[in-house]
Amino acid sequence: MDIYDALKNDHQEVKNLFDELEQPPHMNGESRDEIFTKIKTALVSHSEAEEAMFYTQLRQYEGAEKKIELAVNEHTQVSRTLEVLDSIDKKSGTWLNKLMSLSDEVQHHINEEEKEIFEMARHVFSQQQAQEMGKQFQETKIQRKT
Ligand SMILES: [Fe+2]
Repeated sequence: MDIYDALKNDHQEVKNLFDELEQPPHMNGESRDEIFTKIKTALVSHSEAEEAMFYTQLRQYEGAEKKIELAVNEHTQVSRTLEVLDSIDKKSGTWLNKLMSLSDEVQHHINEEEKEIFEMARHVFSQQQAQEMGKQFQETKIQRKT
């Protein structure tokens, strides 16, 4: 699996979790807390692995620096929002509103990444490099989880 498919898979997983969280009550009996914890874990391990190997390699190329900077800022913003969400009552309306804006934030980030950043990356990395990075990305994620 190349890096693009690996990242897209992660993005889809997070989108599905948000969908689950937005439709109450949960048929499978999972609480908001449990789904939120899954979202948080997925987003954090994804962002860390992505920054560590995809962004780091990409930002060495001329013209990529600015876009990567922006994407990293968005990651930081997302993790701040996750912290805030963790600190407020998950049954409150405030929590749900904040969650919706996090969902928008993440969606925006994903769209930009899959369009602009992937396009840039496809210019600078060969298909073989993309395959190699995909493998490294999966390994980094597993290592960070343990
Ligand atoms: Fe990202």
